[in-house]
Amino acid sequence: MCGIVGYIGTRQEAAPLLLEGLTRLEHRGYDSAGVAVMSARGVRVAKRAGRVRDLQDALPKRFAGKAGIGHTRWATHGPATDANAHPHADTKGDVAVVHNGIIDNAAALRAELVDAGVTLASDTDTEVIAHLVGRSEADTLEGKVAEALARLDGTYGLAVLHADFPDRLVVARNGSPLIVGVGDKEMHVASDLAALVRYTTTVAHLEDGEIATITAAGFTTYRADLTHTSRTAAHIDVDLAAYDVDSRDGHMLREMHEQPAAAERVLRGRLVERFGTAHLGGLNMDVRETRAIQRVKILGCGSAYYVGQMGASLIEELARIPADAEAASEFRYRDPVIEPDTLYVAVSQSGETIDTLLAVQEIRRKGGRVIGLVNVVGSAIAREVDGGVYLHAGPEVAVASTKALTTMFLGFSLLALQLGRVRYLSVADGKRMVAGLQALPEQIEQVLALSDELVEVAEQLAAAQSLFFVGRVRGFPVAREGAQKFKEITYRHAEAYQTSELKHGPLALISPAVPTVAVVPHDELTDRNVGALHEIAARGGPLVVVTHAEVDLGDVPCRRIDVPRSERELDPILLTLPLQLLAFHAATHLGLDVDKPRNLAKSVTVE
Ligand code: AGP
Repeated sequence: MCGIVGYIGTRQEAAPLLLEGLTRLEHRGYDSAGVAVMSARGVRVAKRAGRVRDLQDALPKRFAGKAGIGHTRWATHGPATDANAHPHADTKGDVAVVHNGIIDNAAALRAELVDAGVTLASDTDTEVIAHLVGRSEADTLEGKVAEALARLDGTYGLAVLHADFPDRLVVARNGSPLIVGVGDKEMHVASDLAALVRYTTTVAHLEDGEIATITAAGFTTYRADLTHTSRTAAHIDVDLAAYDVDSRDGHMLREMHEQPAAAERVLRGRLVERFGTAHLGGLNMDVRETRAIQRVKILGCGSAYYVGQMGASLIEELARIPADAEAASEFRYRDPVIEPDTLYVAVSQSGETIDTLLAVQEIRRKGGRVIGLVNVVGSAIAREVDGGVYLHAGPEVAVASTKALTTMFLGFSLLALQLGRVRYLSVADGKRMVAGLQALPEQIEQVLALSDELVEVAEQLAAAQSLFFVGRVRGFPVAREGAQKFKEITYRHAEAYQTSELKHGPLALISPAVPTVAVVPHDELTDRNVGALHEIAARGGPLVVVTHAEVDLGDVPCRRIDVPRSERELDPILLTLPLQLLAFHAATHLGLDVDKPRNLAKSVTVE
């Protein structure tokens, strides 16, 4: 959440580079944006509520300076206003600070500053940092920043500019990512590789608790007490084309259509046809360790949590190991019992979600083994876990997760297969799963081809203020994910329920104004599901049914959407895809910004 960029060099102007970087980070927060540059006459700040392009339009003609910092905001303290946008300055205007994270003791620090006669210009927690730096009597900028940081409780990735130290930026990290990029007589800083890779692929990830001085010539890192650390930059292999995303038709639409290719990538080299199994080398576990697992606990947030529920079913069905998924955001607050023979699995697209990261740290602190299913290579969660599976979905920019979610499902399928085959899953069943997985990219393509046919029904759903998404057992996490996608980008109230639970309360809400999207696979529960559809129809509830051609819906009045059948364990992912398309078309019909829904951000790096 919140994007941070910084630049210092000798040849180029900072502002255009900062704005370009912010455009690439806008999915991290997009309610306001700002930049500060070190001009010949001191620090200059330009900031405003709205998108980066609004800032760009409003930037003063002469905004020169070869060092600067920039920010895109996702509001935590105070609404999206010009005043609350970053950078924040101290009273004299000598200091500018951009910050990602939350300062937990901001209220006390604000009160202390007001008592000392400071007039605060914003509602934010970040502003206190600027004042603390500005009021510090340390001789160096590093000393001033370190003194200020010592007063903070909370999380931060931050960058500081100071008029008295025009040759440097000072940056610091505690819980929010910060990457330093090394160029030729110039240096870059960003909260995300996406803002750096166009300029350099020689980077250093700061660790929590580190401070760094960045000059045009290089960087130096320190601990909080300003003793040196030995961080060095290293070359990273990145597919530059993957970062150069074409957004003409919008990111979500493009990313949905990238799902067949993403599915192929996550499976590539990991299926062993001959033995009907999968090989995930990154788990760092031998067969004995794998066999010793007694439980699997999956942790993720939002859509990653829902696909974690799908993953838990896959593991129980294929490996017969008790498995469940839990919202990572709740996990550590209930003081969980960490069991030595449980395999913990953290699942995250960004690898930065703070709730998931903190859950991983809690497990490791208590001696548990945790692996990651992560998309972003080198991200905080990927670096924290004992082993893992990279998802290879490619950069996902739209806030609504689609292709990453599909690769998560496939990652769980591979894990379940590997766990199953060292236990009770037969070669024949293993081969059945391998064949099923190999067929999926083509089947995903077939479902996506339904897109145009779904426009009309999506528009009908968009007309409702409130909807139900229902499913049972394997279909329930599909319904949860469908409701999540729908509410996230259409702003309609969409509630997921187990179909079997409707009659225990929510059926009271069913009416012609409240449509239900039902997930009804061809499986052992089809008859029960169809019975529930009759109950909804009898109460006048409009129905959209995502199902298989083999399912006989009798005379239930509904709009049916048939998807191809896979192996029953793999069906959930194909049933999920039409729900993505419905949400997309509904939001487009409503004229909403599908890629950047209100109030949200792509990476949730604050608790
Ligand atoms: C998905 O559409 C959501 N935007 C959101 O729920 C997301 O899946 C969640 O915040 C977890 O993100 P992560 O995968 O990056 O950890």
